Amino acid sequence: DAELAAQGEKVFKKCKACHQIGEGAKNRSGPILTGIVGNNAGAVEGFKYSRALKQAAEGGLVWSEIELAAFLAKPKSYMKGTKMSFAGLKKETDQAAVIEYLKSFKE
Ligand code: HEM
Repeated sequence: DAELAAQGEKVFKKCKACHQIGEGAKNRSGPILTGIVGNNAGAVEGFKYSRALKQAAEGGLVWSEIELAAFLAKPKSYMKGTKMSFAGLKKETDQAAVIEYLKSFKE
């Protein structure tokens, strides 16, 4: 849904301090997010993940929309030990919108 994605672009401003997405995106303090929805966790080349995220990835974590929403709601409670220092998106509408925005970038 394009309208929801446009809303998500605004929410993504909160992520931009650490993440890039789309053409020419590079790893910053956070990994590139192009193609992240439906992808394996911890799979961005050249990014140094926390132990916690690497363990979750080894356990088979896939960033489905459901997992992403739970992570983004409260990163540090969802994944103890993650180095993503972000308080989270309280509103479910913000979670859904930013996920829709992320989905609009394929690999
Ligand atoms: C990891 C999304 C905000 C820093 C991740 C991952 C996702 C994500 C999906 C996992 C990537 C993977 O498995 O490859 C988002 C979204 C944000 C946001 C949608 C905004 C709503 C931020 C902010 C920061 C940040 C503000 C920095 C203050 C990181 C770091 C990791 C990460 C360092 C790696 C975590 C680890 O290795 O434990 N982010 N993020 N993120 N993000 Fe964010």
